[in-house]
Order: sequence, then C-alpha cells, then structure tokens
Amino acid sequence: MDTPIPALYNDCAYTLVSTEQISRTVDRLAAEIQATYENSGRRLVMVVILKGSMPFAADLMKRLTLPIELEFMKVSSYGAGTKSSGEIKVSLDLNRDDLQDIDLLVVEDIIDSGRTLSRLTQLLKNRNAHSVRTCTFLDKPSRREVDFVPDFCGATIPDEFVIGYGLDYNEKYRNLPFVGVLKREIYEKK
Ligand code: PRP
Repeated sequence: MDTPIPALYNDCAYTLVSTEQISRTVDRLAAEIQATYENSGRRLVMVVILKGSMPFAADLMKRLTLPIELEFMKVSSYGAGTKSSGEIKVSLDLNRDDLQDIDLLVVEDIIDSGRTLSRLTQLLKNRNAHSVRTCTFLDKPSRREVDFVPDFCGATIPDEFVIGYGLDYNEKYRNLPFVGVLKREIYEKK
C-alpha cells in the first residue's frame, strides 16, 4: 500500500528543490565557505536571520569544520509601501561589541527585493566588523528592487511562491523537507 501523502505536501503544486538537491547544494556552499575562511586567522560568526533561514543554517553549520560562532537576528523590511526609505526593522539584534576582529557571515533563506540584506549588511559594516559576507540558499534575481549580489548562493529560482525548508506562507510549511511551489488556489482563496 502506498504511504499517504501528508495534507501539507498536497498544497504544493510541484517540487522546486528536492531534499537530495538541497543536500548537494548545502555541500557545495559549505565547501565554498570553508575555502574562503579557513586561513583567515579570525573568528567567524554566522548570523542566522530568523525565522526562515533556521533549517538551512542548521544544515550548513554542521558541514563546516571551522570553529564558527552562532548569533541570531530578526529583521524585516518595511516593504513596498515605504519604498522611499528602504529601512529595515531590527527586532532581535546582535549583542556584542567585538566585531572589529570578526568575520560575519549572514545566512538567509531567500533574497527577493534585496532590501533586507542590502540594509543589513550596511548596518553591520557600519559597526566595523572586519568583513561582512552573505550566504543565501535561494535567490530570486528577477524580483530585485535594489542592487544586491550575495557572496554565496545556493540556487537562483524563478518568481514563484515558494514554501518549505524554512520558507512559509502565513507561518505554515516551514517544516517541509524540500522547497515547493505553493498551489495558487491556496493563496488566492479568500
Ligand atoms: C524573508 C527572507 C528575507 C527577506 C527577503 O523574510 O527571509 O529576510 O524576506 O526579502 P527582501 O529581499 O525583499 O528583503 P521574512 O520577512 O518573510 O521573514 P521570515 O524569515 O521570518 O519568514
């Protein structure tokens, strides 16, 4: 008898990045990051941007053999309604004042307009971190509103409503072990 498909999975139109593809992608990113930092002689702090990047960051850190430290931030951009400012709201911040000797690696699940990472990297550079680099699992370059190119990128994807592997719709679907495209009728029904 076939195993029943959980209702959560049924809301996916199709799989965009399978569990196996995720694993291979994180392997590659970890190797790139390892090569970049292994001879730096400085402390490396991974800054995990909540909530979406949690599963990706957890997978990534386990593949690194560097002695990394872990910090968390929660930020949100003010969105399309306040295009002029492009500001971000920091609701959970780093709480350390030793950044001048540290390499920061900001870890994100997805880049869309680019506003969040553009402002956040600027903010962290202004705090005099030795270096600030960014690693995103997914990138939607077709949605960009400000120039931003991540240092490490898992995959570029088309402009689809993606869920899973940390990505949500109304806080749901973050626990899917793959990245899927949400069925249109789920977010269009009202
Ligand atoms: C998502 C994502 C980035 C941001 C990207 O976070 O994790 O932080 O949006 O969008 P941008 O490039 O247009 O700025 P979200 O606000 O959905 O929060 P979450 O991770 O808690 O779901």
